[in-house]
Amino acid sequence: MALRNIVKFGDERLRKKCREVTAFDDKLWVLLDDMYETMKASDGVGLAAPQVGILRRVAVIDVGDGPIELINPVITSMRGKQHEVEGCLSSPNQWGYVERPAKVKVTAMNRYGKEFKVEGTELLARALCHEIDHLNGILFTDLADEMVDIDDKEEK
Ligand code: CO
Repeated sequence: MALRNIVKFGDERLRKKCREVTAFDDKLWVLLDDMYETMKASDGVGLAAPQVGILRRVAVIDVGDGPIELINPVITSMRGKQHEVEGCLSSPNQWGYVERPAKVKVTAMNRYGKEFKVEGTELLARALCHEIDHLNGILFTDLADEMVDIDDKEEK
């Protein structure tokens, strides 16, 4: 495994709509392993492939319950609302309030191309939405209704 460089806000690769994965091969597995290691090294809870410069529909999430690997994920249901502070590893010093669904259901494929479903509430619902947005070129700052400065965040 290896750490990859994280693409920062302002890089146009973060604005692309990513293509679906069609090959579930060792190249994908290395990407997933590297993304997970890179996310952990940066203390993040989610990372999408465009954030390491790969314009494919791949994301990893770990909100503390172990890794979730998402390939070609699709949100199939959204319910309720939550309004919390969110950040992004591509913009380490920016935080803002974003409204997200309280509960989401996602269908995706695992690293072997097998379909699975994942349901999330609270932070997992937020992470699922945030990472899937990345695959469509959408950043949390597009959706934030109020930015907070870093000192405010650290008091939380
Ligand atoms: Co992000």
